[in-house]
Amino acid sequence: MSHEVVEKNIGLMIVLVLVVALAGGAVEWFPLFFLKETTEPIEGVERYDALAIEGRDVYVREGCYNCHSQMIRPFRAETERYGHYSVAGESVYDHPFQWGSKRTGPDLARVGGRYSDDWQYAHLYNPRDVVPESNMPAYSWLFDAKLTGDDTSAKMAALNIAIGATCPKCNLYTDEDMKNAKAAVEGKTEADALVHYLQGLGTAL
Ligand code: HEC
Repeated sequence: MSHEVVEKNIGLMIVLVLVVALAGGAVEWFPLFFLKETTEPIEGVERYDALAIEGRDVYVREGCYNCHSQMIRPFRAETERYGHYSVAGESVYDHPFQWGSKRTGPDLARVGGRYSDDWQYAHLYNPRDVVPESNMPAYSWLFDAKLTGDDTSAKMAALNIAIGATCPKCNLYTDEDMKNAKAAVEGKTEADALVHYLQGLGTAL
């Protein structure tokens, strides 16, 4: 009977739908205001250095996330294969984060240090050289593309805004960092930057 009243009164229906949606939303939002682990870096997690920022941008530009996630779920099958599951405090410097869910290839959240630099270079140049059955594309042009470092410091400034807004206890890039940014990347190749970025992934935990 009361249900009929709601169904025949669209104004009341809209109000009640809003109440339900807001209550559901509040249950999800409010804990986030008090949960420290989403807004504080865990021990050992640091901001990306200049070369890693450039490597990460290559990763994003090339769409590596279309085949690779960076989020290990807390299931045994995952932790046995990839290592400790991902925790929020590891991502505080990641803007935008690369968690993803598409796994044509393996999760990369803890790939740092799993292989040597030489392996990573060879694999990027032509994956089939080290993993014969691989269907990952080759990224050989990254070995010719030289970085200028012209906007690395501007990227740091942009990251400062994002990090500052979401993570009060995070370290921001300093004027010193920005002054040295160009020199740290100039003349290196995009492959250098990408391998440097990959080798740092997930190593803090
Ligand atoms: C079309 C899908 C695809 C794309 C795009 C792709 N990969 Fe892969 N990747 C794979 C597959 C499949 C494997 C597993 C076989 C192998 O090791 O080559 C893999 C493996 C890897 C591995 C080794 C992981 C491990 O734990 O063994 C790394 C590192 C990697 N990819 C990095 C990258 C990077 C960096 C990019 C972007 C420049 C990229 N991949 C783009 C499919 C892809």
